[in-house]
Amino acid sequence: MNPIFSALPTSVFEVMSQLARETGAVNLGQGFPDDPGPLDVRQKAAEAVVDGWNQYPPMMGLPELRQATAAHYRRWQGLELDPDREIMVTSGATEAIAGALMALVSPGDEVVLFEPMYDAYVPLVRRAGGIPKFVTLTPPHFGLSEEALARAFSPKTKVVLFNNPLNPTATIFSPADLDLLADFCIRHDAVAICDEVWEHVVFDGHRHVPVMSRPGMRERTVKISSAGKIFSLTGWKVGMVMAAPALMKVLSKAHQYITFTTPPNLQAAVAYGLGKDDGYFEGMRADFQRSRDRFADGLKGLGYSVLPSVGTYFLNVDIAPLGETDDVDFCRRLVLESGVAAIPVSAFYERGAVTTVVRFCFAKRDATLDAALERLAGRRTTRPVA
Ligand SMILES: Cc1ncc(COP(=O)(O)O)c(C=O)c1O
Repeated sequence: MNPIFSALPTSVFEVMSQLARETGAVNLGQGFPDDPGPLDVRQKAAEAVVDGWNQYPPMMGLPELRQATAAHYRRWQGLELDPDREIMVTSGATEAIAGALMALVSPGDEVVLFEPMYDAYVPLVRRAGGIPKFVTLTPPHFGLSEEALARAFSPKTKVVLFNNPLNPTATIFSPADLDLLADFCIRHDAVAICDEVWEHVVFDGHRHVPVMSRPGMRERTVKISSAGKIFSLTGWKVGMVMAAPALMKVLSKAHQYITFTTPPNLQAAVAYGLGKDDGYFEGMRADFQRSRDRFADGLKGLGYSVLPSVGTYFLNVDIAPLGETDDVDFCRRLVLESGVAAIPVSAFYERGAVTTVVRFCFAKRDATLDAALERLAGRRTTRPVA
């Protein structure tokens, strides 16, 4: 057995979900919406299954999806992408990340990662032979600093794996942070693999700025998107990868031997969805923002210290003011004593640097959020907030 995977413990996500199932807790740990997603997009998928082509689609993705992707990112992010040479469809962002690491990292290369980070990153980097070099981000802003980047980058840096908007912190990096990162990538001749799956799920009027658009980054960025997040259909696993032709050539080689293709019916529906008018995207954001505010207001009313959430489906609570120092223990007690499941943010740190922040998913129906708040109100066993 390969030790990189066989040595991995059961993830805290699994532990909390299991506890939630056993105790009948309200599960705000897992990051998926209650809402079934846009009906017209789902109908397009159903029509494509019944009436459409169900055999292998082209390896790079359906031409109509690649064209729709180019038009979508021109409209929303001002990017000019060649649908024939710079766009590829994968089976979710996860395949795109795995493929990009396999394609771009050779054994011994250093890969800069920013913790807290998505749990798949470190095992995939190691399996690709890469050596992770961590930049630790800390609450409440989780921003970059020149000193931290200088410590992580070296002459061996080949790749940076960067997630913006950032799960689990629900923060967005500033344009100044993006330019600082770009400067380091350019100086070290590194490629930035940019996991931008949350690009559309941003609030308070924010507009996503892709790393690819920053000066000097067009030729050295792999931009990764996920239809699952754009359309609140997380089970669909349709990813879009964008990169300059020289990079795309090698990315496509990895894709060829990982999944080769992605279900054509879902691709057809995503192509349709990407062309939906602005109202859909703005409405989706407004709905999530309303849920965020409902849950944040409820938590604040109970005395919790809520950290800013400007994107993603998540909201974080700082438990330090409650006198808590161990987020894993806190989440365990929360699910067992109060019947609400959340995720300890230390699980997203390789080195457990921050142990006083807890993540809740607010992308749920009002009734679910209210039920969670009611249970938390019954708790009130922690010390009052200063
Ligand atoms: C940061 C990040 N990257 C990637 C993914 C996975 O995307 P997909 O479902 O398209 O593979 C997620 C899902 O939560 C995520 O939060």
